[in-house]
Amino acid sequence: MNILGIGGFSHDSAAALVCDGRVVAAVDEERLTRIKHQGGVPRRAVACCLEVAGLALDDVDHVGCYMRPFLRMSRRIPYRIKQAVRSPGYSLAYIAYEFLHNARYVSGMRGLRGANARLHFMEHHPAHAASAFLVSPFDEAALLTVDYIGEWAVTWTGIGRGTDIRPLRTTNYPDSLGVFYSAITDYLGFRRATDEYKVMGLASYGEPEYYDDFARIVRLRKDGRYDLDRSWFQCHYAPGSRVGYFSRKFLDRFGPPRKRDEPVEERHRNIAASAQRILEEVVLGIAHALHRETGLDRLSMAGGVALNCAMNGRLLRESPFEAIYVQPAAGDDGIAVGAALQLHHQLTESPRGDVMRDACLGPEYPSAEIRRVLELAKIPYEQPEDVVERTAALIAEGNIVGWFQGRMEFGPRALGARSILADPTRADMKDLINKHVKHREEFRPFAPSVLAERAHEFFDGSNGMRPGALDSPFMLFVYPVRPEKRAAVPAITHVDGTARVQTVSKDVAPRYHALIEAFARRTGVPMVLNTSFNDNNEPIVNTPIEAIRCFYSTGMDALVMGDYVVTKR
Ligand SMILES: [Fe+2]
Repeated sequence: MNILGIGGFSHDSAAALVCDGRVVAAVDEERLTRIKHQGGVPRRAVACCLEVAGLALDDVDHVGCYMRPFLRMSRRIPYRIKQAVRSPGYSLAYIAYEFLHNARYVSGMRGLRGANARLHFMEHHPAHAASAFLVSPFDEAALLTVDYIGEWAVTWTGIGRGTDIRPLRTTNYPDSLGVFYSAITDYLGFRRATDEYKVMGLASYGEPEYYDDFARIVRLRKDGRYDLDRSWFQCHYAPGSRVGYFSRKFLDRFGPPRKRDEPVEERHRNIAASAQRILEEVVLGIAHALHRETGLDRLSMAGGVALNCAMNGRLLRESPFEAIYVQPAAGDDGIAVGAALQLHHQLTESPRGDVMRDACLGPEYPSAEIRRVLELAKIPYEQPEDVVERTAALIAEGNIVGWFQGRMEFGPRALGARSILADPTRADMKDLINKHVKHREEFRPFAPSVLAERAHEFFDGSNGMRPGALDSPFMLFVYPVRPEKRAAVPAITHVDGTARVQTVSKDVAPRYHALIEAFARRTGVPMVLNTSFNDNNEPIVNTPIEAIRCFYSTGMDALVMGDYVVTKR
């Protein structure tokens, strides 16, 4: 049985293909259209998944989509009618938009399905939960999903057993932690729905000076329920993207919002730190209650907020859960996988498929194709006897190296298939990459890819229940760098002494693992600095040509694609 999953439509569209319960391919649409956070019908991603599997559209039996349009309208429209007293113009415009949006969504999905497929609209949050739980190593787990908004739900808890997913509690709009964090993102002069990770990075530079105030805005109760005090907001009845998300009361208390080109000051850093802290405390509160309620020791999480790896790190250390699984595409794109798998298990009696330990589910370009592109562009290249040793030497010599290998990653993180690599032991490397390659803000940290078996030497993964265990293959957890090691790896140690770790296992990524091993033999340090293979504000590269373009338009020193090495000097 071949099932297509569709994730995202408003933004971050993606497709996944599940054949007989196995995830065969999953691709973000942005990587193919080259428009970051691309929304709409993911036509190219669907075609790409089918091509990877060698199937045609007519071979697809079912299509699972990421949201239920009628559930969405049945909740959103009555709410907007109620709000019309306060903001008649906007409410009317919103209702019109809602009809149009859903019509576009339904017809878009219909146009996508092929001749033989049945179309299924899946509920958003359970499909989020499925995207993590059904590929997790857990037979049984507590489930938590947190995002901006689904149809109407914003936070959702449940229980997963085998292939079964049961809801426990749903929190609805407007009490959304995603809305709160996006409102802060907008207030601090970044783009909401895309730049939340900048707030997280900035938070480490500030003090949570406003935490007590924010605890009155996002109010957590002892039983794990929470709500937002709406008097601080206006986005639930006014167009936040135009007039700002917070109300006059907020602006009077915390000052004017930062404009995009204004400098980031101490007040902004402290607001970021306070927002990050309240998010962490509230989600910790939810996790404690969920643990009490379910009695389960494992947690699987999804939703855009589950991409907040500083929050995830605190959950790992401080929540009562022994193990936590987050899927690499925790946002709406990942629902492509969740919707398809959930559908598969609803339609068949078959047991669970593979655990997702590898995000490399996209297209691959064979050696001959890479060579053809290099020759076509008349680029001098070498084919060293041992490409891994050659690359390790280049990195150890201080070069910034583009690393293009195998199948492209699914989800927002580069995990060693489309990565830019550098030496983490050099204090100046962070600034060099920011200046010459990534052209991005200085407060954003770079992450390490570390040999899984040696991660404990540098990072503290303990939480009392798991002494030293460290398993973070998707770079979605922040760990403290051991104090005595911080000076040894300055380029990946964030200002607060933490790092967003990717653990690399030999059986999952043999070539990447061998590269880091070779680097460790030269330097004694079992990790490399890993940042995504793209310039700031463009999607991660997919094809060899895109890699070459990015290589020559930035200050990278070397490019390693498959078995071929290109150097500038
Ligand atoms: Fe979502």
